[in-house]
Amino acid sequence: MNIIVCRNYEEMSLRAARIVAEQIKAKPNLVLGLATGSTPEGMYAQLADMNQKGELSFKEVTTVNLDEYYPIAPANDQSYRYFMNRHLFDHIDIDKANTHVPDGAAADPAAEGKRYEELISDLGGIDLQVLGIGRNGHIGFNEPDSKLILDTHVTDLTESTIEANSRFFASPSDVPRRALTMGIGSIFKAKKILLMISGVEKKAAVSALLERTVDTNFPATMLNLHPDVTLVCTADVLD
Ligand code: F6R
Repeated sequence: MNIIVCRNYEEMSLRAARIVAEQIKAKPNLVLGLATGSTPEGMYAQLADMNQKGELSFKEVTTVNLDEYYPIAPANDQSYRYFMNRHLFDHIDIDKANTHVPDGAAADPAAEGKRYEELISDLGGIDLQVLGIGRNGHIGFNEPDSKLILDTHVTDLTESTIEANSRFFASPSDVPRRALTMGIGSIFKAKKILLMISGVEKKAAVSALLERTVDTNFPATMLNLHPDVTLVCTADVLD
């Protein structure tokens, strides 16, 4: 794992945005896997800024997001589709038809998982996947468990994830209990992975990740098996 340590959140956001921009410049029709959450917000602002300054174009880029609450309407302001529009897609020259998020309103979540896997495969796979990490070690919404599912699927969120995500909702009881998520296999098929971690509350997660062991009860440790992972983190997570 290649590790880039940054002084603060702003520097991490800029370094991560530069890595994404380099990949788009090298391959303008990049298939870019994206994450939501607080961690990549600053990177999205940097990418929007580069686009508005005419330094970077998303015209040929296709995006596939990791996950979405289930069930949720895409127009709901708590949906990940809404988050992506607000933080990135509304501010760049991407064709929205080329932006994909699992459909939180799908009638049959298992069929939606299958459709999403086929979509990724029809796109020729993900070139670069951006990831955050949960305090419990989840990536996407692959929560700690004795078995991890390979393909896109519907999953129950753990109490720890519901509690962490309740900061975005009026009350913890409003947080959806389930989500559609790419599986560990879908994430692993990405050619490159850019893992972003910031904030002291992720310290324990980072030490578990850097132990160089794998543990399905801490799903991010699986990344130790992927051949091309870059971790961009703030220095406080390594203290
Ligand atoms: C979001 C996702 C999650 C988050 C993780 C960290 O699409 O897949 O795994 O990356 O929960 O969230 P933040 O960045 O809010 O701490």
